[in-house]
Amino acid sequence: MSKLWGGRFEKDLDTQVARFSSSLSCDARLWSADIEGSVAHARMLGQQGILPQNEADALLTGLQRVHARIENAFAKGEEIFSPEAEDVHSEIERLLREEVGPVAGKLHTARSRNDQVATATRLAAARQITELQTEIRALQAWLCETAEAEVETLLPGLTHFQPAQPVSLAHHLMAYFWMFQRDHERYTDAVKRTLSLPLGSAALAGTSFALDRESVSKELGFVSLAENSMDAVSDRDFVLEILSAGSIFAMHLSRLSEEIVIWTSPTFGFLTLDDSVTTGSSIMPQKKNPDVAELIRGRTGRAYGALVGALTMMKSLPLAYNRDQQEDKIHLFQGLDNALDCARLMRRMFENAQFHREQMSEALKGDFSNATDLADELARKGVPFREAHEIVGQIVRHCLRSGRALESMSAGELCAFHPTFDESSVKSLAHSAVMNARTSRGGTSPECVREQITRAKELLRP
Ligand code: ARG
Repeated sequence: MSKLWGGRFEKDLDTQVARFSSSLSCDARLWSADIEGSVAHARMLGQQGILPQNEADALLTGLQRVHARIENAFAKGEEIFSPEAEDVHSEIERLLREEVGPVAGKLHTARSRNDQVATATRLAAARQITELQTEIRALQAWLCETAEAEVETLLPGLTHFQPAQPVSLAHHLMAYFWMFQRDHERYTDAVKRTLSLPLGSAALAGTSFALDRESVSKELGFVSLAENSMDAVSDRDFVLEILSAGSIFAMHLSRLSEEIVIWTSPTFGFLTLDDSVTTGSSIMPQKKNPDVAELIRGRTGRAYGALVGALTMMKSLPLAYNRDQQEDKIHLFQGLDNALDCARLMRRMFENAQFHREQMSEALKGDFSNATDLADELARKGVPFREAHEIVGQIVRHCLRSGRALESMSAGELCAFHPTFDESSVKSLAHSAVMNARTSRGGTSPECVREQITRAKELLRP
């Protein structure tokens, strides 16, 4: 094992301690971000005359070779990192020494692993968020596309899971578009703070070498420089923000999953999922289960677990770096991988799904979700809404007792409850009329939903 320290120690590290303290299993994935950080650092050391140019060049060529070696090994499925290594950073330095000899030791001039690790973690996280945001966009695009075809499709709108008012299926789907839009924005916002450069802070107090942090930041694509070296090496707010965004995203996905579970239940029959994304039962031959939706719903636990794990790990840590913080990557990548998997699978599940319009409108029959509109009719004719509510409540009671649907009432029958009811009152009871009447901005009428989709599609434009 090649340690980055040891001069002051008389004994070797206990093997159990070595195993316990190794972070290779969670930081191996940082390898390319780590090399990028080192390349920028080495280039700057040369430019600033901190290292002679020929040595900086040797480091740069060496790092390039290490990059190619690791890439190659991974492509062939070969192990390149020693399983006993302390972390990926020490392994990359070991490989660099193999390539360029003792000059490899100069790469660590004016740098500590504390600022090095934080830099690589931030870079890798920002990259993975870009990937995740692409998936969120794809999900949003699917919602828009599907909504466009379902603007006029009637769906029972529920509150308290009881029939409330009919809505357009497009409207219901677009509600998720906006949730995912906010998720996308939250990640964008988190990336802004993630890309604040710690490199140049060294162990905790800064360095006596004349660094050019600006040029390193520019080369690596960071958007700002961390202003305080102690904060820089020990701040993990970016992890917490990313995991908070991930928890909210997971919560949204779990709500949509729940809808899928309900809609695909034969009791509802609003949606059929493709056979390729459902599973059967080992005992009940008739079963077709929406396991993917259930798993996405269940994986909310992982998302929240990662956030709570990271929050707890950070709690009460004194300045500056503490080894506890090595755990950040476990939570961070668990959260990010989970979000990426769930976003992908959600879209996969929808790819060949089929909505059943007739089942949805069937479910509306006799559900009294048109009652508000009958009360609105009276209110428009000058009856105080509270009174109108009471009168329509009596009509509902009458219908329930006599097994009638509200929409089956004639003008004459309605007049028995209030003399101002007429033919237009009867027309207002059609579920499509109820939906079409909701023309307030953001409402469910087809024209409003079309406008909403237009605005949504503008956001999707690159
Ligand atoms: N693997 C460690 C981490 O990820 C590296 C930092 C070690 N720094 C130190 N001062 N021991 O946090």
